[in-house]
Formats: sequence, structure tokens, C-alpha cells
Amino acid sequence: MPDNASKRDPAPGVLPMFVERWSPRAFADFVIDQATMVRLLDAARWSPSCFNAQPWRFYTSSQDSFNDYLELLVEKNQVWAKRASVIGFLVGKKHFEHNGKPNPTYAFDCGSAWMAMTLQAHSEGLCTHGMAGIHHDKVAEYFSLDSENEEVLMGFAIGKLGDPAQLEEDVRAREFPSLRKPLAEIWPTFAEKSGRR
Ligand SMILES: Cc1cc2nc3c(=O)[nH]c(=O)nc-3n(C[C@H](O)[C@H](O)[C@H](O)COP(=O)(O)O)c2cc1C
Repeated sequence: MPDNASKRDPAPGVLPMFVERWSPRAFADFVIDQATMVRLLDAARWSPSCFNAQPWRFYTSSQDSFNDYLELLVEKNQVWAKRASVIGFLVGKKHFEHNGKPNPTYAFDCGSAWMAMTLQAHSEGLCTHGMAGIHHDKVAEYFSLDSENEEVLMGFAIGKLGDPAQLEEDVRAREFPSLRKPLAEIWPTFAEKSGRR
């Protein structure tokens, strides 16, 4: 864990996995075996969702398809994600299967599933890095998605933490666990509850 990790300031008792997880761009040369991938995706499977609709669909690269997946990322992400072990895309199903109506929380639910996968990866000594910088249309085309019902939400890289020396200068400068807004800012009623107005 890089030095900056010590600047993260969790409240006492927060589980270390939440604070120790971060999104590196330097990845080691490492093959993630199929059994590990099954655990990562199965962790996602147990996520909660509105009406238990489970609107998440995960597409992950194999060794054969890795370069195809890489090309679906914007250039800025390709430069570091090329060393990840796996590249994936998260697709959300926009309508409920049970009645065909729009599911207002599909993206929210998919986010929970991604975080579950991420924390399972973290617990296995792996890292994930989410990416909005992807060619959404090309991803949809590559997987022959149904644009009426399926939305490409994000891409992600999975791998083992590598040496930052491998990174280009500008990317290396950002290679540390980032900090967070104060709790009172993301929890506006916090001050009220603790009597500090
Ligand atoms: C949905 C999503 C999209 C993201 N898109 C990108 C991206 O395109 N490129 C990138 O380098 N990082 C991307 N990130 C990583 C965030 O910048 C990172 O999670 C955030 O700065 C917090 O840092 P941490 O994950 O190391 O704690 C993305 C993260 C998420 C969750």
C-alpha cells in the first residue's frame, strides 16, 4: 500500500477493506485463474436489487479476447489497462423481466454488484479499476446488445498491484489512494445528529 494510504482517515471501527481498497493503474504480470473469476462474479451475484431483478451482466475478457476488449477503452485508459489481467464491462438491463416496465434502479443495483465484485477481489489480493472512459457504442456493438433494454454502464480492469515505475510520468503522479470529502459533507444531517451545528 503506498504512503498516501496513511492519510485516509476512517472513523474507528470501519472495516479495513473499505479503506484499503483503491484503484491502481500499475498492474503486475499475473494470470487470474477461472476459479478466482468465478468467486469474484459470484460475490456480485449476491448483491441486493430492486424486486431482486439482478439487472447486472458482466462481460470479462479471456486471454484470447483481451486485446479486443482493450480496444473498447479510450486511449487514456488503454495506456495503463493494457497490463491488467482482465478487462470487463458491466451492462445493465433497463426493464424488469417480470412485467417489462422500466426498472428505475437498474444502474444503482449494478453499482452494488460491481462493488461486491471489487471487495471480493480486494479480499483475494487483487485490485479493480472502474472506467467510464470506454467506447460505449463499440462495446454495445461488440456484444450485440439490445439498445432498447441493455445499457453499457462502465468498464473495469482487474489485476494484481504492480510497480508504479512502469507507468507514464503523468499517470504515475496519480498512483496513490485518493482521499475523501469529510463525513459531514456527504451526510448533511450528521451535524444535527451529533449536536454540532
Ligand atoms: C464508474 C467509475 C468510472 C471510472 N472511470 C475511470 C476512468 O475512465 N479512468 C480512470 O483512470 N479512472 C476511473 N475511475 C476511477 C476513479 O477515478 C477512482 O475510483 C476514484 O478517483 C477514487 O479512487 P480510489 O478508487 O482509488 O479510491 C472510475 C471509477 C468508477 C467507479
